[in-house]
Amino acid sequence: METTLVLIKPGGVERNLIGEITRRIEARNLQIVGMKLFAADRARVEEHYSEHRERPFFKDVCDYLTSGPIVAIAVRGTNAVKAIRTMMGATNPLEATPGTIRGDFALTIDDNLTHSSSDAEAAERELSIWFPEGLAK
Ligand code: PPS
Repeated sequence: METTLVLIKPGGVERNLIGEITRRIEARNLQIVGMKLFAADRARVEEHYSEHRERPFFKDVCDYLTSGPIVAIAVRGTNAVKAIRTMMGATNPLEATPGTIRGDFALTIDDNLTHSSSDAEAAERELSIWFPEGLAK
């Protein structure tokens, strides 16, 4: 069993995609074990993307994540990290396969709708940022 993090970014919340995204997660037989909608504070977003601090898009991605409410979701299941990454599609929506969230609903990298943890180590780090109180299950 693995637990991973999904963030529905402000664009996904704005476009009423919370239901569509959570429906797909549950339909895949993955379990939602934590979920909350809130306005993320800048410090937490910067911590989340800290490995990209020196990259040119760091400010843009932090601006985007703090531009409106987000949804943080903890997802558990067999091979959950890889299953969720594949379900979200390539980071750049133009390269995302149809059938993935980004391949079906996004067009540009600066509005790519979701984040998901890249591997088990990142998942553990990111879950502790967004669910410091721990998970319900
Ligand atoms: S990945 O998936 O970590 O390999 O992607 P990477 O290309 O390294 O990008 C890291 C995150 O930065 C976001 N990003 C951008 N945001 C806004 N504008 C531009 N130009 C841009 N380029 C990259 C990208 O979406 C990754 O964030 P997440 O939240 O994982 O999608």
